[in-house]
Amino acid sequence: MKFFVDTADVTEIKELAATGLLDGVTTNPSLVAKAKRDFREIIAEICAAVPGPVSAEVAATDLDGMLKEGRTLARIAKNVAVKVPLTWDGLKACRALTGEGAMVNVTLCFSANQALLAAKAGATFISPFVGRLDDSGADGMELVREIRTIYDNFPELKTQILAASIRNVLHVKQAAMIGADVATVPPAVLRALVSHPLTDKGLELFLADWRKTGQRIV
Ligand code: E4P
Repeated sequence: MKFFVDTADVTEIKELAATGLLDGVTTNPSLVAKAKRDFREIIAEICAAVPGPVSAEVAATDLDGMLKEGRTLARIAKNVAVKVPLTWDGLKACRALTGEGAMVNVTLCFSANQALLAAKAGATFISPFVGRLDDSGADGMELVREIRTIYDNFPELKTQILAASIRNVLHVKQAAMIGADVATVPPAVLRALVSHPLTDKGLELFLADWRKTGQRIV
């Protein structure tokens, strides 16, 4: 499973990219608002720091507007994935932009039928929002499972499942077990994936015993 980080904080992205474990980045208008910087500049900097897909979301809601904005975003760098909402105009924009060679991430997916439509529209990525579904009392991961089943039933559908709105480390494990192609994870959750108290305790014990040997490796 690929790891994308869900943030528009360029400093944080560069730090995480240095691990060599980052496969891409997703942003959204709320994350860009939090960064308080010029959107196109942010996207250009992220694209230069991370070679994988970088999702940049359109703000228009009509087809013409989405196409204009999508083309502008796609011109920033080869690795921009234009993010469009899961509406009829969003699906039409998806079809047109992918036809022009752009990567497209169809976002705000809350049902399996929406995901089927996005795949038929040629989406590169579909983003089911797991955490927001959980918040509403539904089972977000069940949606990822349903989409996996549907896409596997029809191998001609090439869309990658990008598990989004991930809130905790359990979500990451579940997405991987279900076979999501990608999980986009907030930086804090990505950092938390490495932690286990027994790892810390075990390392402490090994180091204490190693000191007793009085040896050096180099
Ligand atoms: C995905 O591309 C979205 O940016 C994101 O995962 C939304 O997450 P949230 O529900 O925590 O805002």
